[in-house]
Amino acid sequence: MKQTQPLIIGHRGAAGEAPENTLVSFLLAVEQGAHALELDVHLSADGEMIVCHDETVTRTTNGTGAIAHMTVEQLKQLDAGARFNPRFAGEPLPLLAEVFAAIPNSIMINVEVKCSYSDRLLERFTELLQEYDRLSSVVVSSFDHKILVKLKQALPELRIGLLYTANFASHRLMAEQTGVEVYSLHPYYKLLDAEDIQDAVAHGLEVYPFTINAEAELQQAVEAGVTGIITDYPERLRRLLATHAK
Ligand code: G3P
Ligand code: MG
Repeated sequence: MKQTQPLIIGHRGAAGEAPENTLVSFLLAVEQGAHALELDVHLSADGEMIVCHDETVTRTTNGTGAIAHMTVEQLKQLDAGARFNPRFAGEPLPLLAEVFAAIPNSIMINVEVKCSYSDRLLERFTELLQEYDRLSSVVVSSFDHKILVKLKQALPELRIGLLYTANFASHRLMAEQTGVEVYSLHPYYKLLDAEDIQDAVAHGLEVYPFTINAEAELQQAVEAGVTGIITDYPERLRRLLATHAK
């Protein structure tokens, strides 16, 4: 049986070529052929889900301060594009709601939760999934597996993906030990060998390593049988897969 090709998952959009975690980056990734987008979320002071990697806006915008201490109104005044390249000046920090609205539901969105668990997080996330009919086109991931278990218990249909940078005797058993149904494994890409991948896939798990950018390493991951690759360069991966398909 010919193995299906891995999903192209644009890391923070197409973060190699556009300002990370902005709409322009997400749209570029989709244009380049990404099947899915990875993005990071925090909660603002007024309880809105904000798309940003760091706890603070300092590295990626022209502002300073912690997202948890800022309101949407304050966050919306920031420029999240110019630091990457002045030609992206004026690009705002997106709300998760805005990404859900702008990206068709045929594109999977991997929402990585960076903030801690709270009732407000569950409440707002549930509202957004319902409002944008996104439950079946979202995978929520986190390095904090307890958050994922809590979300899964509250929303049984939610697909969860375990992020990790530690190695395990069996990646698949580590997932089973969470006690809830896990959809995907999101390991740091250097941890995996083909045997781990085959074992996980044979047991119904998706395997989406992060973040692979170099051509040779993308190639290796494809050959090892991963079911998706998180990359800053969706276009590079698309070209490589096109060669593979021939
Ligand atoms: O979700 C994959 C990857 O984004 C995890 O690490 O730090 O880039 O969010 P980080
Ligand atoms: Mg991330």
